[in-house]
Amino acid sequence: MSEAKSTYEAALERSQAIEKDIVINPKKYRVLTGDRPTGRLHIGHYFGSLQNRVRLSKLGVPTCILIADYQVLTDHDAFSEISQNTKQLVIDYLAAGIEPGEDVIIYPHSYVPEANQLMIPFLTLVSNAELSRNPTVKEEIQAAGLKSVNAGMYTYPVHQAVDILYCKGTVVPVGKDQLPHLEMTRLIARRFNEKFCKNSEPVFPMPQALLSKTPSIMGLDGSQKMSKSRGNAIMLSATEDETAALIKKAKTDSDRNITYDPENRPEVANLLMLISLCTGEEPETIAARIGDGGGGVLKRTLTEALNEKLRPMREERKKLEAAPDYIRQVLLNGAEKARAMAIETLKEVRHVMNMEI
Ligand code: TRP
Repeated sequence: MSEAKSTYEAALERSQAIEKDIVINPKKYRVLTGDRPTGRLHIGHYFGSLQNRVRLSKLGVPTCILIADYQVLTDHDAFSEISQNTKQLVIDYLAAGIEPGEDVIIYPHSYVPEANQLMIPFLTLVSNAELSRNPTVKEEIQAAGLKSVNAGMYTYPVHQAVDILYCKGTVVPVGKDQLPHLEMTRLIARRFNEKFCKNSEPVFPMPQALLSKTPSIMGLDGSQKMSKSRGNAIMLSATEDETAALIKKAKTDSDRNITYDPENRPEVANLLMLISLCTGEEPETIAARIGDGGGGVLKRTLTEALNEKLRPMREERKKLEAAPDYIRQVLLNGAEKARAMAIETLKEVRHVMNMEI
């Protein structure tokens, strides 16, 4: 068994144990999740993670949703859009059913200065070699085709550890690609506690990944992950007509008889899976009903199911877009609560590091 695989399997086991317990003891945990503000969310984000965040927060799990505005600087020149994208993300979250309040907060991480201060001691707990080994970072460097890589790119996983640890987050719902960052966070927490907390209680809990159960959602081309930059996505904010037009162009195959066969018919299977995610029916049942209806009926069924599923969200979106002051207030309230937690943690950190004056 490869080392990577055993790390993954260990994470999967811990994830499954949490999934069982969190329903019974929601207050025992703190969920910390985040997105980069690079654009609006699409249905892959919704079914893959947002829906799960809504579920966890409604269970009563204290939830921090962080907008990673600093992280955008690692490989994007698009900083001119950061503020607008941040607000669009908030609108997507709220429209999907996140209800900000005492225990559920949304904020940009750049607004939490006391948390950012943890970056300095944390950087001393990892080596250059460990930073440059991170497979997700390597992939991002390649995908962006960067000629020269800024140091922020190599160190953002340490900053992600700050995101998770300043509020003592214990559960981090993520996809597989984020596991290396979570391993780095666990490494930093462990090293910090071992180095500075010999004579006291450990400051940081060990965060755990909560791995998504939804299979990764392919784009409408059926061959690669759904993403806005690949032009194969349906945005949550798309109109019903735009949704219909996009689905009309989706790739299928030449077999008129619709069957659910992810191995041999990935494009058709992906569309069936999307219908299933909207209606809760099994993809096989949907396929059997469509039968000889072919790609046309398949696409019409998906268009109707998706537009119906997204209708309440899209209506809510419109109301929220007309309330920019409210959106800003959600972020400011979130940042204030986040800062209160960061101030407490920084106090403890200073104490154990013998830096109090
Ligand atoms: N790296 C994550 C992404 O690209 C975003 C992120 C930043 C994040 N900080 C986080 C995710 C903390 C989980 C926890 O999507």
